[in-house]
Amino acid sequence: MSVVFDRAVAFYDRTRGLPQQAETWMAQVVGEDVPLAAGSKVLEIGVGTGRIALPLIRQNRYRYTGIDLSRSMMDVLRTKADSEQIALVQGDAERLPFADGAFDAVVGVHIFHLISGWQQAMDEVLRVLRPGGLLLHGRNSRVDSSPERQLRDYLHSLSNQQEQSRDPGLLEHDQIAGELEQRFGKPRELQTPSWTVTQTPGEILDMYADRCWSATWSLSDETLARAVAEGRRLAIERFGSLDAPLKDEQLFKWNVYRRPETRP
Ligand SMILES: C[S@@+](CC[C@H](N)C(=O)[O-])C[C@H]1O[C@@H](n2cnc3c(N)ncnc32)[C@H](O)[C@@H]1O
Repeated sequence: MSVVFDRAVAFYDRTRGLPQQAETWMAQVVGEDVPLAAGSKVLEIGVGTGRIALPLIRQNRYRYTGIDLSRSMMDVLRTKADSEQIALVQGDAERLPFADGAFDAVVGVHIFHLISGWQQAMDEVLRVLRPGGLLLHGRNSRVDSSPERQLRDYLHSLSNQQEQSRDPGLLEHDQIAGELEQRFGKPRELQTPSWTVTQTPGEILDMYADRCWSATWSLSDETLARAVAEGRRLAIERFGSLDAPLKDEQLFKWNVYRRPETRP
């Protein structure tokens, strides 16, 4: 089963939202470096609350369609959209209800790892793109040595060891990029300037314990509690206190793929 985000509606924008400046950069880099004119037909799979869609439309004036399994995530998007033109469809990225070659570009951000048939969804993206159309695959990123990243990776690895399960949320980025390259060839890589977020280990652990991240949704209460307790111990050992301010350097990355003129 794909990971539907109905349960994240109340906290998604608060916990995932980009700072204003970063949001502008994320949309600007596409406007400046991707050959997509105003009025281009763009589809976003897993559009969610419009965190990516709305800045892209405001900045670049695309004709935008969003699809998501979660009606309630898209209800949040509707409340945030002013005059932005966006068509919203409740549906599954594994079976896109659109004609072959219907779009100039498809946008996908933090999505393939959540789809149970993610390779099928990639084939669907190829199908609905016109020849020469673009896939914009984006993600929030942070430097590898970020303490926030270390702590979260540690918590995820502990939980996984204990449950012997593989959450679809933990599909590796490299695995996704490899499958995309097989279909589209090498991407062009774009990125925004970086920005700094300050968080304490206590705040990171609270978000984990509150199941803010989809990778925690399939864990039992016991596994989650054990991982959080172990995370507290590690955080105090490594950072001295749960209240230590940890600086986290973040950026947004786009991989831009072009659909071959003939489908592989
Ligand atoms: C992590 S959110 C990302 C939302 C948005 N792209 C962003 O970056 O803020 C993933 C979204 O994909 C949706 N989703 C998951 N599986 C899906 C599928 N098979 N088809 C369509 N949407 C799906 C979820 O409901 C959720 O709204």
